[in-house]
Amino acid sequence: MAVRLAREGYAVGLAARRESLLEGVAREIHEAGGNAGVFPCDVAERDQVLNAVRRCEEELGPVDLLVANAGLSINTRVAPFDGLAVEQVIRINLLGAVYATEGVLPGMLERGRGHIVAVSSLAGFAGLPMSAAYSASKAGMINFFESLRIDLRGYGVDVTVISPGFVRTPMTDHNSHAMPFLMELEPAVEEMIRAIGRRKKSLAFPRPLALVAWSARLLPRPLYDRIAARVGRRKASADSRPA
Ligand SMILES: NC(=O)c1ccc[n+]([C@@H]2O[C@H](COP(=O)([O-])OP(=O)(O)OC[C@H]3O[C@@H](n4cnc5c(N)ncnc54)[C@H](OP(=O)(O)O)[C@@H]3O)[C@@H](O)[C@H]2O)c1
Repeated sequence: MAVRLAREGYAVGLAARRESLLEGVAREIHEAGGNAGVFPCDVAERDQVLNAVRRCEEELGPVDLLVANAGLSINTRVAPFDGLAVEQVIRINLLGAVYATEGVLPGMLERGRGHIVAVSSLAGFAGLPMSAAYSASKAGMINFFESLRIDLRGYGVDVTVISPGFVRTPMTDHNSHAMPFLMELEPAVEEMIRAIGRRKKSLAFPRPLALVAWSARLLPRPLYDRIAARVGRRKASADSRPA
C-alpha cells in the first residue's frame, strides 16, 4: 500500500516497530523515484506515536492522508482467559489508530483538509469465535471512525473505514483454518487504493464475504450462535493440527 501510494505521488511516512523492514520499503520507494521516510514506533504507546507523527511532519511536511493500518490478530481463549492479551490487541488495533489520529487531526483541522483511513476488518461486523479481542478491536474501530466521520462533516476532513476479509499477508500465513474468499495482496491493495482515491466512506470486501458478514448481523442470535460455534469448532481443530 505504501509503495502504491508513493507511486500516486504521496511522500510516504512509514511507521511500525521493525525499522529494518521499514527501511526496505523506503528503499523500494526511493529506487522507484518516490519519497519516503521511516518513523519507527510502537502504536500501542501514545507518546511514541505522537512523536513519530511530529518527526514525520518535520521531515516530509503536513500529513494529508493517514492510513491507520497496524494490527495484531491473536486467538482469544476462555481458559486460560488472558486479559492482558486482550488489552494488547485493543491497544494496538484500536488505540494505535486513535493515537495516530490525535497526532494528525489538529493540523488537518487547521488546514481544513485531510483524510483518515482506518483499516478495520469484516471480523468487526460480528463477534467471531475465538476472536473476542480481535473482533472487539475491529468493531471498536468501525464505530469510532464512523462517529468521527460524522463529527468531521463540514471540516474538510474525510474518514474512510476499510473492512477487508482474508488477504494473503504474514498475518494470515500462519492460519491453518479455512479462509473463504482469500484474496491476494495486489488486488486487495488496488481495491483499498481505489476507495481512498474516491474518499469512500466505507469499503467492505471481498463482496461475497462482506455479504455474509452483513447477514450475520441480521440473523436471530440463537441461530447465529449455532452457526458460529460450528465454525469455531472447525477453527479450533484446524489450529490444533501441526502446520
Ligand atoms: N490479512 C488479512 O486477512 C486482514 C483482514 C482484515 C483486516 N486486516 C487488517 O489489516 C491490517 C494490516 O494487516 P496485515 O494483514 O498486513 O498484517 P501483518 O502482515 O501482520 O502486518 C501488520 C503490520 O502492523 C504492524 N504492527 C503490528 N503491531 C504493531 C505495533 N505495536 N506498533 C506498530 N506497528 C505494529 C507490523 O509491523 P511491526 O511488527 O514491525 O510493528 C506490520 O507492519 C491490520 O490492521 C489487520 O488487522 C488484515
